[in-house]
Amino acid sequence: MNNVLVSLPVMFVLIFCREKVIVPRLKPYISFVGNESQMANTIISWHNKASDRSSHGGSLGTYRSASVTIGSDYFCATEITFENSAIGAPGEPGKQAVALRIYGDKAMFYKVKVVGGQDTLLDETGSHYFYHSHIQGSVDFIFGKSRSLYQECLIESTAKKIGAIAAHHRDSPNDTTGFSFVNCIITGTGKVLLGRAWGNYSRTVYSNCYLDNVIVPAGWSDWNVPLRQMCVPHFRKTEKE
Ligand SMILES: *[C@@H]1O[C@H](CO)[C@@H](O)[C@H](O)[C@H]1NC(C)=O
Ligand SMILES: *[C@@H]1O[C@H](CO)[C@@H](O)[C@H](O)[C@H]1NC(C)=O
Ligand SMILES: *[C@@H]1O[C@H](CO)[C@@H](O)[C@H](O)[C@H]1NC(C)=O
Repeated sequence: MNNVLVSLPVMFVLIFCREKVIVPRLKPYISFVGNESQMANTIISWHNKASDRSSHGGSLGTYRSASVTIGSDYFCATEITFENSAIGAPGEPGKQAVALRIYGDKAMFYKVKVVGGQDTLLDETGSHYFYHSHIQGSVDFIFGKSRSLYQECLIESTAKKIGAIAAHHRDSPNDTTGFSFVNCIITGTGKVLLGRAWGNYSRTVYSNCYLDNVIVPAGWSDWNVPLRQMCVPHFRKTEKE
């Protein structure tokens, strides 16, 4: 990695990697470990967006815009910031810009920060656990087909008009997937939907979360397919300011 080490007058060092990082499927058991209580000081950042040209011609697309892609199983990260700095106007076509894409199974993220705008965290497939982490974005900023638990996380909306937090994709009632947010804090500066139903059986649950007044009253979107409303899940024992 082309690490840029910047000595700061205080007691820590900032490690800023401006690089696209890919951990391929055949490299299991990789961990990225930053320094304790300094997640903001170890940053992996890149700036591709969906409309960028790929080396094969054509555009990169959302999935390949990721700054960091994890394809292997048993990945772990702690005290790291994953960033995509290509932040367009929320919802602007071609401006999807993934900071972290994870399609390996059995991954664990503890005290990480994932920062971007539209489509920040591609929680693509597998079972993943996010604990004490901070995810920031504007539109569909946690999306994919995974089975994931977000526990005691900070979910921060930077939407401008109306954004959306989760876009979980589930096409069959038999899929054992879904996003579960437990004891999370949902806050930010822009109004958001809790989720948009991607696929006929999209599943997202918020339990015991604190919802700041950034959630739009409708709560959810069926993505213009009324059939999906029956599947738009409930949330319970959740406080709203
Ligand atoms: C991490 O901690 C080690 C040992 O305390 C220190 O030498 C290093 O500079 C720290 N790195 C960062 C990024 O703060
Ligand atoms: C779900 O599983 C049941 C039992 O295996 C099966 O009969 C049904 O066709 C499946 N449904 C879908 C949509 O795959
Ligand atoms: C979703 O449901 C609609 C209406 O039943 C159906 O036409 C469509 O094929 C379904 N989509 C998928 C991906 O199964």
